[in-house]
Amino acid sequence: MTATNPRKADHPVSQHFVDRWSPRSYTGDQMPDADLHRIFEAARWAPSSYNSQPWRFLYAKRESADFQKFLGLLNERNQSWAKNASVLMVLVSRKLMRPPGSDKDVPTRSHSLDAGAAWAYLALEASILGWPAHAMVGFDYERARAELNVPDDYHVEAAIALGRRGDKSALPEGLQAVEQPNARKPVSEFALAGGFPKG
Ligand SMILES: Cc1cc2nc3c(=O)[nH]c(=O)nc-3n(C[C@H](O)[C@H](O)[C@H](O)COP(=O)(O)O)c2cc1C
Repeated sequence: MTATNPRKADHPVSQHFVDRWSPRSYTGDQMPDADLHRIFEAARWAPSSYNSQPWRFLYAKRESADFQKFLGLLNERNQSWAKNASVLMVLVSRKLMRPPGSDKDVPTRSHSLDAGAAWAYLALEASILGWPAHAMVGFDYERARAELNVPDDYHVEAAIALGRRGDKSALPEGLQAVEQPNARKPVSEFALAGGFPKG
């Protein structure tokens, strides 16, 4: 457990899972390419249906000309803190895949699940490296599709901010109170032996 993180696991688990949380206060530090590559490398090893790897991370580093375009996709509340991120991303997933031995693409049921796995791997590595990530649904999905040239066979999943954790006093007042690790349901609420009870 880190000094800033009072989370306690109910059962023994690798500490990296408990230490990861989504901050909003970022310092605006520039992320070295080596760290960004390492973070993407973690996503690369996520499992996916038929190993189809349908995720695509569209991104802009804060020092790039594209950063303002990515920031402009976010809603006002998310912009108020994500403007200090080091990297902004939009995660999309391909809705079609080519089954092994086939010569045509077919719809895949699991493109969002697979992209979610890649996001989780990316977020965990980013947290371990000290560039914690924060996912967002608060952005304009249609503008993201148009402005980032997302092809029709891709689904827009989420936006993501990454950066060095900053001081909570740098946040707008309304966000300071929630700038801390939150809790979780107990395992017994989501791990259901034998299925849902009849009823
Ligand atoms: C797909 C997704 C979308 C989210 N959208 C937003 C968002 O638009 N704005 C925001 O401030 N936080 C957003 N969050 C952050 C969640 O509120 C946060 O992950 C959750 O409360 C658990 O907290 P933790 O990540 O710190 O453990 C999002 C998280 C995920 C995974």
